Amino acid sequence: MSKHNKLTGLLAATLMASALSGQVLAHGDVTPQAVDTEGLSSLGEDWADTNPYRAPSDDHDLAVKIGASAYNQNCARCHGLDGISGGIAPDLRYLSPDFEGDDWFKYRVINGAVRDGAVYMPKMADTLSQEALWAIRTWLETKYVEE
Ligand code: HEC
Repeated sequence: MSKHNKLTGLLAATLMASALSGQVLAHGDVTPQAVDTEGLSSLGEDWADTNPYRAPSDDHDLAVKIGASAYNQNCARCHGLDGISGGIAPDLRYLSPDFEGDDWFKYRVINGAVRDGAVYMPKMADTLSQEALWAIRTWLETKYVEE
């Protein structure tokens, strides 16, 4: 095995381990990773009602690219790598790419999910920008699976 392959293997193993431990814990012990949204249109303070980066937005393609890695860094530990849920949290590929899906997405990332004092999902919007979260949503829409 070349040095490069070993490193890649190690990285994959580390990613797997953190994904797994995230699945076991899944109680909000999460360090959000900064997301560089440079190049995307700024959205200001107020939350948009619908995904502002959805096609035919000029921002669509860049949003998909930024959203893919932002998702894997901030959501995958609970919702599954590449959007495929391992069962611990809902599979986000089923969120419909329309107003209804936008509304629910927005509600959850702003409010998180807390039951009986336990944090099942942290309030992601406290630490990630609206731009980063809509970029994640834009990427998720490319993975959409009809129920
Ligand atoms: C610590 C684990 C965890 C992390 C990290 C997390 N979530 Fe969640 N999320 C959950 C759980 C658990 C639920 C189900 C909550 C419930 O139904 O009470 C959920 C629900 C959701 C829902 C509603 C889905 C549905 O079908 O009802 C959306 C949308 C969502 N999360 C988006 C995200 C996004 C986007 C990120 C990353 C920015 C993220 N979550 C990060 C655990 C997490």
